[in-house]
Amino acid sequence: MEWGMKNRLSQLIQKDGKALFLPIDHGYFQGPTHCLEKPGETIKNIYQHADALMMTRGVLRNCINPAIEKPIILRVSGAATVVGEDLANENLVTSIQEIIRLNASAVSMSVFIGSKYEHQTLSNLAKLVDECEDYGIPVMAVTAVGRELEKRTARYLALCCRVAAEIGARVVKTYYCEDFDKVVEGCPVPVVIAGGPKTETQKEVFDFVYDGMQKGAVGVNLGRNIWQTEHPVASIRAIRAIIHDNYTSQEAFDLFEQVKAGKA
Ligand code: R5P
Repeated sequence: MEWGMKNRLSQLIQKDGKALFLPIDHGYFQGPTHCLEKPGETIKNIYQHADALMMTRGVLRNCINPAIEKPIILRVSGAATVVGEDLANENLVTSIQEIIRLNASAVSMSVFIGSKYEHQTLSNLAKLVDECEDYGIPVMAVTAVGRELEKRTARYLALCCRVAAEIGARVVKTYYCEDFDKVVEGCPVPVVIAGGPKTETQKEVFDFVYDGMQKGAVGVNLGRNIWQTEHPVASIRAIRAIIHDNYTSQEAFDLFEQVKAGKA
């Protein structure tokens, strides 16, 4: 692997082999998402605890200080929305020149395997990998299901992650599921866990992040379960402790309570 690719990957996945990505790209398909109406404000007190931030070029240019000292994972697929015909009908929406101009440390795009747009989105992944590999920029594939959340089984996600890695993704982001080890075992590149809709309780998040990490994930790409919670700083610090400091779910919850109370 050449120096540029290694350097960018090491900006994302830390020396301990773990990573906490904070996504704020939701507006690209659902508009001004709750708590993300002003992305710059949303992350003001929490971005410091993340290893990298994920967003589109529109939010990056307009809401993020260019002096920010965090690597950027640029979301480069889109062109389908929640009010449109099919969320899976995505294309690449950002050129390689723009990716380089914005100094992205990585790019991300969704693939919708098993959908009507499987071929289109996987072909887009191949194209993006070809272009980005020329410049040493890692591609993170997002295994997306649109509205079909029930698809999130280990068997299906293992297939998706493996296919994305075979096409050339350097990192794969997928949903947490039962038997998550089966997803990771069949994937030759690092896997990060996506968060999904906000859970009922804070502890549930710590539970699935902890379990996913035990089962081989290198980290998370987790948004709503951080910035839509009542206590985003406590939440991200507790999740960071699971990822980088080997906290158990209960230890993370205790830390969450302490931060919340202003005692840590
Ligand atoms: C999907 O790809 C979205 O754009 C988010 O990046 C992803 O779903 C992770 O965010 P959340 O934890 O809110 O699901």
